[in-house]
Amino acid sequence: MGSSKQEVEVSYDVSNEFFRLWLDERMNYTCAVYETIEQTGAMGQGGQTLEQAQLNKLKILSDFARVTPEKSVLDIGCGWGACMEYQSSVRNAKRVVGVTLSTEQAKEVNDRKIPNAECIGADFMKWESAEKFDSVISICMIDHLCSPQEARLGKAVDIYREYFRRVHALTNKGAHFGLQAILRNRTPRIKKDLEDVYFCTHVIFPGGLNPRLEDIIQAVNPHFEVMQVNSRREHYQRTTAEWLHRMRGHEKTIRERWGDKIFDDYDRYLSTCVRSFDMHYSSLAQFELRRID
Ligand SMILES: C[S@@+](CC[C@H](N)C(=O)[O-])C[C@H]1O[C@@H](n2cnc3c(N)ncnc32)[C@H](O)[C@@H]1O
Repeated sequence: MGSSKQEVEVSYDVSNEFFRLWLDERMNYTCAVYETIEQTGAMGQGGQTLEQAQLNKLKILSDFARVTPEKSVLDIGCGWGACMEYQSSVRNAKRVVGVTLSTEQAKEVNDRKIPNAECIGADFMKWESAEKFDSVISICMIDHLCSPQEARLGKAVDIYREYFRRVHALTNKGAHFGLQAILRNRTPRIKKDLEDVYFCTHVIFPGGLNPRLEDIIQAVNPHFEVMQVNSRREHYQRTTAEWLHRMRGHEKTIRERWGDKIFDDYDRYLSTCVRSFDMHYSSLAQFELRRID
């Protein structure tokens, strides 16, 4: 179902050092939220830095999840732990648990010894826990849950509903949930764009497919109520443009250490992302969800 452990490792285990070269210093590998998107160019110059915009994103989702010091927080698909660290150091959450399918990520996060935090290397869709949480955040993990084949068979909503059922079962009454997801909007009609999007889906993120907005809206029932949804399409265009710009700045190092294929594949993938958000093939949404008790 969705991306397997081996497929997730294709996406995230090229090398932590490779991603460290072009992500922000805390290694958020998801859309940042800029304060002044309208005033800046498509290539991301001007205005806030990527680092500041990533902190804005974490603040928005933590506010959606109503994180306060007396609460325990679950971060589903925690990546390299940027959100976990934010919950521990900025929101002073009493306990933070992150789950990731990537072994390299889990090791990296646990080695950092973030206070009150623990990272678990597991498949969230199989993970059993007796612990219940007060707040949940999940940033672009839902994009791994349904494969293109499963979507073609009409299984997407059931798969996402099972994810929301699991989140509900792991939370205390009154829990709030800050969810971020990349969305699939329009299918390209231009051959090159279609090939590039296919390449990103099947080579860079094998096993996963971005959901449609309406799939998520349908699937939250009967477990969560949608309190608000914000579109951040232009923000992801700018984030991916900034990643591309930073990665190109390290072209020589990347080609030497990881080979031409890695550089060329990531150049194609990030360029495709910038174009996909510009052309509305893809979008990004942030949801404030409240548990239905
Ligand atoms: C795009 S990354 C986002 C990471 C992080 N949330 C961030 O904002 O940087 C998606 C994350 O979801 C995790 N993931 C994908 N499928 C998963 C699953 N079934 N169970 C747990 N984690 C999963 C990946 O290992 C990865 O950490």
